[in-house]
Amino acid sequence: MVSLKTEIGSISLERPGIVASGIMDETGPSMVRMIESGAGAVVTKSVGLEPNAGHANPCFTEVSGGYVNAMGLPNPGIELFKEEMDVAVPKGKIVGSIYGAGPEDFSKLAGRMEDYGACAVELNLSCPHAKGYGMEVGTDPAMVKAIVSAVKSAVSIPVWAKLTPNTHILGDIGMAVQDAGGDAVVAINTLKAMVICPEIGRPLLSNKFGGLSGAAVKPVGVRAVYDLRTVLDIPIVGVGGIETWRDAAEYIMAGASAFQVGSAIGTVGTDVFARINDGLSSFMEEYGYSSIADMTGVAHD
Ligand code: DHB
Repeated sequence: MVSLKTEIGSISLERPGIVASGIMDETGPSMVRMIESGAGAVVTKSVGLEPNAGHANPCFTEVSGGYVNAMGLPNPGIELFKEEMDVAVPKGKIVGSIYGAGPEDFSKLAGRMEDYGACAVELNLSCPHAKGYGMEVGTDPAMVKAIVSAVKSAVSIPVWAKLTPNTHILGDIGMAVQDAGGDAVVAINTLKAMVICPEIGRPLLSNKFGGLSGAAVKPVGVRAVYDLRTVLDIPIVGVGGIETWRDAAEYIMAGASAFQVGSAIGTVGTDVFARINDGLSSFMEEYGYSSIADMTGVAHD
């Protein structure tokens, strides 16, 4: 019998697909809808200490193979986000994504997410275009170590770190997470990108730069997970361009114990998790894999 159950350290999921931060996870009802659509868990949109309006429009555009966005981390702030968590937490496993400028911000936010009933926190160390946040703190291994250590001391729920592909020292950053006691790494966040509108002769997005997501980034993500698996012992959650069961299988074979889907909720629809679950089960049945753990990392020799 094939089982889609999986473990990310101490967290058990009935199904291996998780909603990635940033899409259908800004509100309690949207998170509930995704749990009911076959997701094994949902990661919230990243939340900070204070309410944040985000960037002016245009902040989102479609490109070949994906989307480029610079929303600007819009969120109601951790205080108000309790209302959304109160709706979502009774219905499924919710991972609280948080962003901050350093160890103190992240620790405070993680403590609140734990109080709200999050099953884990995901540290956004990887937004590609936020001044003083995201990738700016997440590409310095010493800073990453300090943030993860501080959060580990502040909470007892598992701590996941979402990493950026916009670096040549991904392995060092992953090691910093592991050395600091991090429970898992999540790879990858979006690739720093730009779209120029020829008619206006200017970058299209109000923020000029944004993050590329969707099918175009999948081979980068698979490579990143493969590289991380060669140096890390902690679990990896794969994310980036997954639309079908084949994409999910690639990430699992590269070394992921679970995977996240973001852009494909837009391009395929909210039934993307149900489709991936069906396809994965059939593939595993046919090719003799009895569990996700059985398939994890098989691409390494
Ligand atoms: C935003 C945040 C991200 O982490 C990302 O990858 C892309 C966009 C944002 O809110 O702007």
